[in-house]
Amino acid sequence: MGDTLTYKILKSHLMEGSLEKGSPAGIRIDQTLTQDATGTTAYLLFESMGAGRVKTEKSVSYIDHNMSQFGPENHNDHLYLQTVAAKSGAYHSRAGNGICHQVHLERFGRPGATLLGSDSHTPTCGGIGMIAVGAGGLDVAVAMGGGAFFLTAPKVIGVKLTGRLQPWTASKDIILKLLSILTTKGNVGCVVEYFGEGVKNLSVPQRATVTNMGAELGVTTSVFPSDEVTKRFLKAQKRADDYQPLEPDSDAEYERVIEIDLSSLEPMAACPSSPDNIKTVKEIQGTEVQQVIIGSCTNSSYADLMMAAKVMKGKTIAPFVELGVAPGSRQVLNMLASNGALSDIIAAGARILECGCGPCIGQGFSPANDTATVRTFNRNFAGRTGTKGDNAYLVSPETAVAAALTGKLTDPRELGADYPEVDMPDAFTIDDSLIQEPLDKEEAKRCQVQRGPTIVVPEAPKYLPEKLDGNVLLKCGDKITTDHIMPAGAYLKFRSNVPEYAKVVFNCFNEEGKPTFADRALKLKNQGKAGIIIAGESYGQGSSREHAALCPMYLGVRAVIAKSIERIHKANLINFAIVPIEFENPSDYEGISQEDEIAIPNLLEAVKSEDSLRIENKTKGKTLTGKLTLSPRDRDILLSAGLLNYTKNLNKES
Ligand code: F3S
Repeated sequence: MGDTLTYKILKSHLMEGSLEKGSPAGIRIDQTLTQDATGTTAYLLFESMGAGRVKTEKSVSYIDHNMSQFGPENHNDHLYLQTVAAKSGAYHSRAGNGICHQVHLERFGRPGATLLGSDSHTPTCGGIGMIAVGAGGLDVAVAMGGGAFFLTAPKVIGVKLTGRLQPWTASKDIILKLLSILTTKGNVGCVVEYFGEGVKNLSVPQRATVTNMGAELGVTTSVFPSDEVTKRFLKAQKRADDYQPLEPDSDAEYERVIEIDLSSLEPMAACPSSPDNIKTVKEIQGTEVQQVIIGSCTNSSYADLMMAAKVMKGKTIAPFVELGVAPGSRQVLNMLASNGALSDIIAAGARILECGCGPCIGQGFSPANDTATVRTFNRNFAGRTGTKGDNAYLVSPETAVAAALTGKLTDPRELGADYPEVDMPDAFTIDDSLIQEPLDKEEAKRCQVQRGPTIVVPEAPKYLPEKLDGNVLLKCGDKITTDHIMPAGAYLKFRSNVPEYAKVVFNCFNEEGKPTFADRALKLKNQGKAGIIIAGESYGQGSSREHAALCPMYLGVRAVIAKSIERIHKANLINFAIVPIEFENPSDYEGISQEDEIAIPNLLEAVKSEDSLRIENKTKGKTLTGKLTLSPRDRDILLSAGLLNYTKNLNKES
């Protein structure tokens, strides 16, 4: 049996462990990326590991998430990231240069390499044939120091693409179709690998749209082969030397194969408020739309925006529609500006936003109450737009333009216009002047890292107690996202100050006039008792936001007991010495209430070597069983009081 492309790349990077399916495998990381929302913590932790200079082929620190808020916090962070990158031997992509994933695809990603990023949409670079995985900042910090990244040797789901996209359907519709089949649940530990004749009909940015939103499936990553199309893209980026052809063996076997015929796809939308709530645009046609935004790391490539410009040329957006356009990178913005497409977009009535994440993370453009917003983004969890009770639809740029022009959700095939095919240029405009190169070793010695007063080194996790005594601080339901745990938006500027940021942990569950989650947690912590969170299915889904573990850890949370916990968040919990426990019997969830007193008498012993533990609900006088699904390394990390300490210990031993 031949190898999948996934396993070919993993095999060439195996450092520790085994690639037997389901086993922990430590792989060498060639490149890392961080963004400013997770990057300050990653670099603070990297510094406290004492690792010196980065040991990867290329590490890049990006500013894209949080660029325009009041107060000095953001700019203190930017200055810190700029100086710490220079000193540590990392590249730094400055604010305004673009969204990390798009810029990485354009300027750094190379086929066959591994990429670890402290952002859950890092798999975007799977579009150029990389194994690109999202993780917490601490995992990225360890990889920057030359340490292996551990993943579970994955099952590989093959997606066979046939045919060719028809006018007005887009690569976004491929991933929306796949989300309708695989949903956002049950795909943990899998990689999605695309193959088949249809692949060659997709450009690299189109492939990247698909791998980007593959994150919403909950898979480890997604990957496309590297072929003549990849070669042409790299050549147009003046990086032809980075090309190598890559494909799976012809007899590669997949866990399962899903076939998608590109020719028969139709425009689709993820309806409020989950990326897998998929309908065809025809089914929801006519829904009134008040706002449209084209942008984000999913859909703001040169071709996406050129298509939008060509359709809008000479037209104006519908009355009462607000249209925002955020180019994914400065390269795209520059090219649109010089070929006149930008002025067509402006003339149509669009508001031009910075090259950054902006509205995708609730930074501006929050929709008005009780209105529909249509976005080319990848996530529409409730409240992510910054508006409570929002109605966000996720669509292709084609469908977004149709909505902007008509004021309604409209199947773009019914616009009655010719579809403007956009060819990839033979040469993109290259201007890396906002990418700061790392300093050499001698210059780095003279570089002073700038730490503004709003940057606070995070408190280290504590060792696990023999026995856990605590109370349920919160009982929450299914699909709790990292946005619920740790809201971003206006609060994101506190990301470098954990005591301040921790004040809004689980803010969405706080009730006016009652003590907040943080108040209750700190009170318990001061009494020497542990905080416990009870949750339903897919706890921590959504993002790599490690503050969703770091801030609860600071507040004294020592265990999460859930029906299931998402991969990246589970790793983050372990990294910050919070024990992830699953109900042996999911119906036991019903028997626990908020504030119940809980004891786990043999916590430490169980974490050392057992697969289950006894949980005593002292309030209800009941005992139940919790499951521990931990690799030997996970256990060592928990017993070492977190990944940072674990890594320091390893470095001392070697
Ligand atoms: Fe940024 Fe949204 Fe992508 S926050 S990295 S544009 S998912």
